[in-house]
Amino acid sequence: MSKYWSDVVHKLTPYVPGEQPKLDNLVKLNTNENPYGPSPRVIAALKLEAADTLRLYPDPNSDALKESIANTYKLNAIQVFVGNGSDEVLAHVFQALLKHSRPLLFPDITYSFYPVYCSLYDIEYQTIPLAEDFTINIDDYDQPNGGIIFPNPNAPTGIPLALTEIEKLLKKNTQSVVVIDEAYVDFGTESAVSLINTYPNLLVTHTLSKARSLAGLRVGYALGSPALIEALTRVKDSFNSYPIDRFASAGAIAAMQDTAYFEATCSKVIETREALVKELTNLGFEVLPSGANFIFAKHKVKDGAELVAKLREKSIIVRHFKSPSRIASYIRITIGTDEQSKLLINALYGLL
Ligand SMILES: Cc1ncc(COP(=O)(O)O)c(C=O)c1O
Repeated sequence: MSKYWSDVVHKLTPYVPGEQPKLDNLVKLNTNENPYGPSPRVIAALKLEAADTLRLYPDPNSDALKESIANTYKLNAIQVFVGNGSDEVLAHVFQALLKHSRPLLFPDITYSFYPVYCSLYDIEYQTIPLAEDFTINIDDYDQPNGGIIFPNPNAPTGIPLALTEIEKLLKKNTQSVVVIDEAYVDFGTESAVSLINTYPNLLVTHTLSKARSLAGLRVGYALGSPALIEALTRVKDSFNSYPIDRFASAGAIAAMQDTAYFEATCSKVIETREALVKELTNLGFEVLPSGANFIFAKHKVKDGAELVAKLREKSIIVRHFKSPSRIASYIRITIGTDEQSKLLINALYGLL
């Protein structure tokens, strides 16, 4: 606390990211990073970028990157917005498209950054409880609102929502923007990108941090109608002209172009996830259905917080959420390599 702080700062409760411990031999399954490195083409592109041209500013509009993202999804570059990680893209989305006189709606159990943006930008919001089985029921969102946002698959549950349900929601909710945060969509969830040309109120956000193995490069993007993209650009150009530096642009373009590598690593993560679900089920865990690169699971008898602490003693880090109480018994496990799964399962055998 300081008398020099603005009122806004006094009222903030910042988001707390998963920890990045600096320990050797850690089995790090806590922040949903990809266990595989980025495509070798990304590394080659980054090396080329380490050149004299770094004295020049990057392209403020990131045209080449937008073009390569547009090509990937058969969209037009004016339907693409890029930012420094999808967290920055989301921050602009909240300010540009979700701040209205009616409350923004999102699930009670979801990405915990959403309420943080609301407090930063003074956005009124209302949380909608997930159903008993932790699924999103779109009928619950059938009420006046200033916007709707949720991840698909949801976080931290990992549960995917069918595209038919999202389309129903878009049809009903034409007076405000529906944002689908598809940070984890490439691990087996249907994407809503195919609906963008039909619904001008749909915005989809993606990140290169997960399926493209580039959490360290900080690139995310939004896809939607040109009017929605223009709103984001207006905010961005009132905030930071150059959120995508030369390395981020070169690396992200190479990642978007290497479809074969992307598909192979996503398939491998999905395969490891399915094997891990079987093992955990045998150990007495109840695992929620996952369309993500993580799973949310609780043990029949062992408490979640206790398991997390015990695993930590064995240098295995997974994530636990104390609140709300409905999820306190669960642990969230990022899918790593098969070797990391084996270490986790062996440790759990010892503990249970
Ligand atoms: C649901 C969801 N959306 C967005 C993000 C942000 O990802 P990034 O800022 O790395 O693009 C995360 C990160 O964990 C997430 O879980």
